[in-house]
Amino acid sequence: MADSASISDRQQAKKVRLGRGWEPWPEYEAAATGLMDYWYPVAWARALKKKPLPVKLCGRDLMLLRDEDGTARALHDRCVHRGVKLSLGKQWFPGTISCPYHGWTYRLRDGELVAVITDGPDSRMCNRAAVQAYPVEERLGLLWVFMGEAEPYPLNRQLPEELVQPPAFAMGGRIEERSGNWRLFAENGFDEGHAKYLHRTSIWRIMKVMPTWNLIHIEKHGRWLYRIEDERFWEAEFPGLGKWTNSRWWKIKPHIKQGRSLGNTGGARRNNPYIEAQNFPGFASLALPGILRIAYPNFIHYEFYVPIDESHTRYVGFMVQFKKGLSRLIFYLWYLTGIRWMFHGNFSGQDHWMVANTDAPPERLYRPDESLIEWRKLFAGPHPLREKP
Ligand code: FES
Ligand SMILES: [Fe+2]
Repeated sequence: MADSASISDRQQAKKVRLGRGWEPWPEYEAAATGLMDYWYPVAWARALKKKPLPVKLCGRDLMLLRDEDGTARALHDRCVHRGVKLSLGKQWFPGTISCPYHGWTYRLRDGELVAVITDGPDSRMCNRAAVQAYPVEERLGLLWVFMGEAEPYPLNRQLPEELVQPPAFAMGGRIEERSGNWRLFAENGFDEGHAKYLHRTSIWRIMKVMPTWNLIHIEKHGRWLYRIEDERFWEAEFPGLGKWTNSRWWKIKPHIKQGRSLGNTGGARRNNPYIEAQNFPGFASLALPGILRIAYPNFIHYEFYVPIDESHTRYVGFMVQFKKGLSRLIFYLWYLTGIRWMFHGNFSGQDHWMVANTDAPPERLYRPDESLIEWRKLFAGPHPLREKP
């Protein structure tokens, strides 16, 4: 794994080399370890059992544990006495965690020091020290932590709108620690140029022709950026070089019906009515603090790029199908036997490979990078979620 100090040193050296003015997105640059005052999915809810779960988020060490009534809680993972990790400790008393070193015991609900085992019941330290507690919510089978000091707003405000009160649905996903900065993962996820080229060799796309190039534009609707395709070119003649196409005799070329297709996967006979009713202006959309939504005709794929520290990201990827009854089970089986390794493994692994190998800045951006430029502009605000009363 890349060393964060060496990455900063390298970027610092580049800044010096490039001189002033290379950095046109100061708020974006300042968010290397993540954006404060947002909810982040950090783990599957089922992974939190009786033992403390250490999680690093936005450069901070946290510890998650369940309260006496099963409510998930998060505390700063550092005992104020001598700095030992509380996640190494034990839950002797319901609703608390005791540090393994001298038994300082903190209440999970608010981080207050409520007992010091090795100083007796009359310890003068009680209620005179505390660790920071972070709000936690359980939704969609995930644990969400509000990172920041501000009063948290409801998680519903930040969830993709269609996931706030979805009809019956099935969901399958994967959480993985990856090397690379969270902003680069978000840029890659929304990147127009790479999808049809880098992923043409993925197993997920092996049977389908991918276009050679597209003309696109980006539209902002509320907090979401949408990538909208204006024109698609299946092949192209490069002067003096020849033709380039991804078309092969065994590949299917999707026939895109105007007004029917949600994007470059096209070809579905029927779109899921719930997805269709969302009227997404484009196939791919992106919002702060690093949420990618890819609307396929019959399911939606989400990626959350959760900052661990400057050079590591927690990839939280899941697919949701909005159907009832047996088809939910069929989708879940299809997820386990196909999508999980083809999409969340092989396909998404190509993205990880590229992000881990991205060495920018410096950079020279090209026409399809409008997607990336618009995303960087989001950091300057406004931040409607945080600012809404
Ligand atoms: S370091 Fe935690 S109790 Fe002493
Ligand atoms: Fe990709």
